[in-house]
Amino acid sequence: MSTDHSATPIDPQSAARLGTDGLRLELVDTADTTAFGRWLTAEARGFYDSTPTPETLAPQLTGLADRRSTGVYDDSAADPSTPVATVSAWPTALTVPGRRSVPAWAISAVTVSPTHRRRGIARVMLEAELRTATTLGASLAILTVSEATIYSRYGFAPAAMKADWRIDTRRARWTGPAASGRVHFVTAEDLREVSTDIVERTRLGVPGQIEQWDLLRDRLLGIGADADRRKALRLVRYDDADGEPQGFAVYTVKESGPEFSSHTVDIEHLVSATDDAYAGLWRYFLEHDLVTTVTAPLRSVDEPVAWQVADIRAAHRVDQHDHLWTRILNVAAALEGRNYAGPASIVLDVDDALGFADCLVLLEIDAEGVATVTDLDGEAPLGAAALSLSVNELSALYLGGMSVGSLVRAGRITELRPGSADVVDHAFHSTVTPWLGFWF
Ligand SMILES: CC(C)(COP(=O)(O)OP(=O)(O)OC[C@H]1O[C@@H](n2cnc3c(N)ncnc32)[C@H](O)[C@@H]1OP(=O)(O)O)[C@@H](O)C(=O)NCCC(=O)NCCS
Repeated sequence: MSTDHSATPIDPQSAARLGTDGLRLELVDTADTTAFGRWLTAEARGFYDSTPTPETLAPQLTGLADRRSTGVYDDSAADPSTPVATVSAWPTALTVPGRRSVPAWAISAVTVSPTHRRRGIARVMLEAELRTATTLGASLAILTVSEATIYSRYGFAPAAMKADWRIDTRRARWTGPAASGRVHFVTAEDLREVSTDIVERTRLGVPGQIEQWDLLRDRLLGIGADADRRKALRLVRYDDADGEPQGFAVYTVKESGPEFSSHTVDIEHLVSATDDAYAGLWRYFLEHDLVTTVTAPLRSVDEPVAWQVADIRAAHRVDQHDHLWTRILNVAAALEGRNYAGPASIVLDVDDALGFADCLVLLEIDAEGVATVTDLDGEAPLGAAALSLSVNELSALYLGGMSVGSLVRAGRITELRPGSADVVDHAFHSTVTPWLGFWF
């Protein structure tokens, strides 16, 4: 998908709809730093962040300039040059089962000013994004959400969950494999390039990952953070037995009790390209002296570390909920874009109130797990599984981390033929639990 967003004009349908309320839907020229600065300021205000300063704006003005940023402007407002609503989007590659990726439209920065809420502006912007994504050839749209109640109405559903882990190190004697390499303290600047390489090598291994961008990497490494945060952050790199960097982590250590012997290590970010690096980094954290607790937010719900300690009850998921939401736009492209666990023949009767994914299709999966999708004209073939579901449920199942059986039992998917849930569950299941380790 192209990143020359000026080539794709603003969605005319949504622009016309807002025009009837005296509002303008416009693409922001991100090269115009005054206009883009106002847009970024409006976005920060929408999320209740503090007002950006010239120093905090500067990296965003350059780091986010290639995004398609859209604003809604109200000429009757006291400050008509600052948008009353914002949304930003960009094309990315979403990892799907089978070490493959599909073109996705990442949506972020959805805000409507408190002065303009609940009059349909977000709906108009979201529908514009979905039409734009379709025009640009995205198979699906994705986002991470502030509230789980907002996006179902547009066809999105959670497809990757997240867990915040807390591990009691006194009970978590290491029983996992002995790592072959070693851990080094490094600086954020040391990690800049090598972390990009490690992240890129891991990206296709976990469904739900997307391409990272420089500003995100810098934020995760603490580059550009204020002095207090930079002082608190510690960064380590894991090199394998041949001295090749295979992982890294960013963390802080806090004293949490009156005694000096009960510190908490908070792992903000940990990436490993190999199982050896995973074991090496986790063991490093669990065997710290004077540390009784290791916390690790925004991790997979299925962390192998829980199986690498003597007492599985030492590793708690203290918070677990939805994280990455997906919205299929092109059913055939999305379903053919991933691999499956085994052969199957499945009829999907998909309902989409917004029309993008409304279809009746036959998904045929061969012995290698490769799919072909065709429109079904007539009766379902004998022996095919058959489900009736909305685009939300199909989007939830897409990355292979959700249970078809649970959604059938919940009344959200209907089996058109008995036994279909088992067939689809087996075919769609991903052996690697979907996960995305950051917000966007
Ligand atoms: C969430 C937000 C963008 C909604 O904007 P808005 O213009 O008021 O939304 P709309 O008027 O278009 O509402 C569309 C629908 O969403 C519903 N809705 C809006 N905000 C909602 C919320 N926070 N929770 C649940 N439903 C919500 C509306 O009731 C409406 O429902 P309907 O389809 O049944 O009529 C806005 O409240 C906001 O900026 N919130 C703070 C920032 C934020 O959380 N952004 C989302 C980031 S992921």
